[in-house]
Amino acid sequence: MKKHNFSAGPCILPQEVLEQASKSVINFNNLNLSLIEISHRSADFVAVMDKAQDLVLELLDLKDKGYSAIFLGGGASLEFLMVPYNILKKDGKAAYLDTGAWSSKAIKEAKLFGDIDIVASSKADNYNNIPKNYTIPTDIDYLHCTSNNTIYGTQIKEFPKTDSLLVCDMSSDIFSRKLDFSQFDIIYAGAQKNMGPAGTTLIVVKEEILGKTGRQIPSMLDYQIHISKDSMFNTPPVFPVYVSMLTLQWLKDLGGIDAIEKKNIAKAELLYGEIDSNPLFKGSAAKADRSNMNVTFLLTDENKKEQFDQMCKEAGINGIKGHRSVGGYRASIYNAMPIESIQVLVDLMQKL
Ligand SMILES: Cc1ncc(COP(=O)(O)O)c(C=O)c1O
Repeated sequence: MKKHNFSAGPCILPQEVLEQASKSVINFNNLNLSLIEISHRSADFVAVMDKAQDLVLELLDLKDKGYSAIFLGGGASLEFLMVPYNILKKDGKAAYLDTGAWSSKAIKEAKLFGDIDIVASSKADNYNNIPKNYTIPTDIDYLHCTSNNTIYGTQIKEFPKTDSLLVCDMSSDIFSRKLDFSQFDIIYAGAQKNMGPAGTTLIVVKEEILGKTGRQIPSMLDYQIHISKDSMFNTPPVFPVYVSMLTLQWLKDLGGIDAIEKKNIAKAELLYGEIDSNPLFKGSAAKADRSNMNVTFLLTDENKKEQFDQMCKEAGINGIKGHRSVGGYRASIYNAMPIESIQVLVDLMQKL
């Protein structure tokens, strides 16, 4: 039976990417060797890394603008500490916008490095909205925000303006919508939503901001070292980087971020439209801040839960159970999710 995969991450990837990746695990580039058994220093793999980095900058429109793209291990969670290590000055201060569990984890790590000012938080509302009208201090080294809050289904529509550096965790919405990416000095994102398998994290960094903290940085945590070694300071996560490259190529062939954004808006409108018009459901995030990637919603009549869950199971719907801290349902509708799968879910909601 066809499955409709609404998982929050790891999550759906384009079918053709999975097919190509599985072929390459057996025989890569007709070498009669697997992608995962050749040297990361071989010409064939170096070309993969180069292309992945190139596609990132091209798709984000950051080519020739002083940015580097690197692929590291350790998950987006490692960036929670690499960011302050690399740009928070000794005795410096940074500001954080607290919009969810991942923001607060980033704050916890940053506090190990300096003075952290939480400029605004929606914690008291169980993070169901993005705070607005807050003041950003001017004496900070950087401001950190999370563009999309995977658990709560909220998304920043308008990014804070600051003369300091702006850092963004884009783990769950990178490559999904048009933005002026040059407003950010560091963007980081775990691969396992819109890019590829878990195991690598993309970091896009404006090179001129580095090397100014006065800190000694261990080599593996130093962005400058990874950039100078073209993301090959140590053995990179070869398979996740390869699949990310294929997914980025898939996105480029589709027409890039402009094209995917239109599809993502249509998908989100279809699902939110049903949530808003069907009295059996209600959205859990504030309307103005709703995410186009993670749609969180609740049943208005809990007695229908068993029936709806059974209907979903029978229709091949996978991964829509809400996160335990929000409850209800979460349909993650990342780039690779076809609108047809959302229609299947909407039809069931109507049938209920
Ligand atoms: C917005 C956001 N940031 C950070 C993370 C943590 O990523 P990782 O598990 O790669 O460390 C996640 C994971 O879901 C996330 O959604």
